[in-house]
Amino acid sequence: MMRRLLLVCVAILAVGVACEEPPAKEPVARGRQVFRKLDCARCHFIDGQGGHIGPDLTHVATNAATRREGVSAEDYIRQSILDPGAYVVPGYNDVMPRGLARNLPPSDLDALVAYLLAHK
Ligand code: HEC
Repeated sequence: MMRRLLLVCVAILAVGVACEEPPAKEPVARGRQVFRKLDCARCHFIDGQGGHIGPDLTHVATNAATRREGVSAEDYIRQSILDPGAYVVPGYNDVMPRGLARNLPPSDLDALVAYLLAHK
């Protein structure tokens, strides 16, 4: 009985590991994977799907370029992820979780920023 249960668990685990997409090499594609992995779409609409607790990110690169005077779109997006409270978009609450990128390798953070920057 225990043995059968163990076999079932091993099988489920194997399928789970096999189902995980291999990390994409190209930054924008990798950024899309990171966005999905961190479940950003729970609160943000992008690529035709997602929630609306936070701003729609369909044109985030264009919006980001105008949010704060003297801050580039890239720097603004990076800061939005690392320090969500630094600037709160008017009309929204300061509820974006802190530390979303805490365990992210720097290359994945760069990819996430590249993915958002591709949304002009
Ligand atoms: C629990 C909901 C929630 C989650 C999860 C969340 N955010 Fe947000 N986000 C918000 C809210 C609300 C705002 C607007 C308030 C503010 O500026 O902090 C926001 C603002 C932003 C902005 C600025 C948008 C603009 O138009 O200026 C960016 C970029 C952003 N989030 C990216 C992300 C990314 C990337 C993730 C995943 C790593 C993520 N968010 C996860 C709620 C969330």
